[in-house]
Amino acid sequence: MNCVSLEELEKQIPTCTSCPLHETATQKVIRKGSENPKILFIGEAPGKNEDETGVPFCGRAGKVLDQIIDYMRLDEQEWAVINTIKCRPPNNRNPNKKELQACRSFLENQIELLDPKVIILLGNTAETAFVGKGTLGWGECREIDGSKVLKLYHPAALIYTRSRIPEQHQFIDANRKLWE
Ligand code: URA
Repeated sequence: MNCVSLEELEKQIPTCTSCPLHETATQKVIRKGSENPKILFIGEAPGKNEDETGVPFCGRAGKVLDQIIDYMRLDEQEWAVINTIKCRPPNNRNPNKKELQACRSFLENQIELLDPKVIILLGNTAETAFVGKGTLGWGECREIDGSKVLKLYHPAALIYTRSRIPEQHQFIDANRKLWE
């Protein structure tokens, strides 16, 4: 599937039945933020709040993502956030390989059509889905298909391990030139 417009793609996603998650999810969770972002954040999977509202990162982890966005000094029209898969896995378990594979063409199409300058992978699942497990070391930045790709801690991980925040801020500071 190769969509020519973001609008077309975002109309197709809700009709997907490629994996069993569509049977348990309330709705697909597609994107929050700009249609033309400089920075694209990729999270893991919708949680309970996202499943209920259809909006990515609208719960507790979303508040932490908002803090990351503030620290990066991004304006509203400069960023967007999507997830590796569009349906909530039951009990918020991690997406499995088959689910990541089933949703992969949506992820690839979203990235292509949003065409960000910088892609920020939020945690290990985003890294696994996009470039493969363990591809990016902490603090590393790679160019992949014309976008700079960095990995940050998943916002939910920062809720439980606040001691990682200064380290993450240092990394953001060291890379500001990519978006400022
Ligand atoms: N965690 C994610 O990875 N994505 C969301 O949309 C919400 C929480």
